[in-house]
Amino acid sequence: MTGAPDPTKAQKGLAGVSVADTRISKSDADGSLIYRGYPIWEIATNAGFEETAYLILNGKLPTGSQLESFTEGLRERAKVQPKVLGIMRELGRNADPIDVIRTAVSALGSIDSEEDMQGKQMSLEAKMSVLAANSHRVPRGEAPRYPKRNLRFSDNLLQMLTTKEATEYERRVFERVMMLYLEHDLNASSFTVRAVASTLADPYAAASAGLASLKGPLHGGANEAAMEMLLRIKDPAKAGEFLKVAFKEKRKIMGFGHRVYKEFDPRARLCKEYLREMLTRRGGDDTLYRLCEAMETEMWREKRIPPNLDFYAAPIFYSLGIEVPLYTPIFSACRIFGWMAHYNEQLEDNKLIRPDSTYVGPSALKYVPIEDRTLG
Ligand SMILES: CC(C)(COP(=O)(O)OP(=O)(O)OC[C@H]1O[C@@H](n2cnc3c(N)ncnc32)[C@H](O)[C@@H]1OP(=O)(O)O)[C@@H](O)C(=O)NCCC(=O)NCCS
Repeated sequence: MTGAPDPTKAQKGLAGVSVADTRISKSDADGSLIYRGYPIWEIATNAGFEETAYLILNGKLPTGSQLESFTEGLRERAKVQPKVLGIMRELGRNADPIDVIRTAVSALGSIDSEEDMQGKQMSLEAKMSVLAANSHRVPRGEAPRYPKRNLRFSDNLLQMLTTKEATEYERRVFERVMMLYLEHDLNASSFTVRAVASTLADPYAAASAGLASLKGPLHGGANEAAMEMLLRIKDPAKAGEFLKVAFKEKRKIMGFGHRVYKEFDPRARLCKEYLREMLTRRGGDDTLYRLCEAMETEMWREKRIPPNLDFYAAPIFYSLGIEVPLYTPIFSACRIFGWMAHYNEQLEDNKLIRPDSTYVGPSALKYVPIEDRTLG
């Protein structure tokens, strides 16, 4: 017994099945994550968001002039067409923000005037932040917020998401969290993007499919669900009781567990430290940190399931004054860069993604005319 999946049998959730060779990133069961060969802590500690995005897209850290022209290319394309904002507004106040962004990206696919592949991708990468920041405001009839010309990419997203002032340290924390959300090998949405790319559909189509798969609470939606849970529990002393009831009712705890990381998620470890440091520097109330820690301790003691990135990113966003419905949109604004790297890698050596299935239904049935059919 080797532990390798039997290729003639369907593997539920494709667990343990390799479906692509990639040079972009790799997460591993031992809690390691590499971006283009660099350990994640090396990148999160030293690089900036634009640099990391360039690295993920191009395979190498940029020189000064490459970084400048990449950043300028994004800046030039950040203006979202009024027609797209109009479509977002039309969706109305009850629209889910990820549905709003997905609809806007579909509209962009028809409206955008970019001619070549690189221009289309950069347009998506630049505009996704603006769409994300406005995905909750504009459908409620509020005025759109726009990027400012001379800000870092992450500072720009933050100032569109909230008017709350952040210190330099807090802004750097937000940038680091964005870098951690930027890419994560073959997660559900990146796989979806590759499947769409393999049909030779354009990047707008691939990104809107990626957004669709990001919506669910088992993937991108987990950060919002985790925050809602933390806000419900409130008191660190109540973490144990909350979990006891949830286990009894066989409910999943959002922000915990991962297909790959079984011991720890390195991104969650980094974010836990950022949250602790951020609240310590503020010198005020650290209840939220203590609540997260109590949940983590109890989950590990009872189930040996570690927290994932979403669990510790959510309280960071909350402490920065960002409204909960914007957490999954933030994920999309970062992951678009990873999606485009996967789109390009798929096309470098493309073969239509069309897996096999194991048929387990009946066969050789005889057609029965409708008037002769019975229930059951
Ligand atoms: C992410 C996730 C889908 C990965 O799961 P997976 O590799 O498919 O593993 P499974 O869902 O099959 O879980 C394996 C076991 O751990 C349990 N488990 C996994 N995550 C759990 C969680 N968050 N809460 C409670 N139990 C959990 C499952 O119930 C299952 O138990 P069982 O064997 O007794 O049935 C899963 O951990 C999950 O649903 N987490 C919550 C959502 C989330 O935070 N998503 C963001 C991921 S970055």
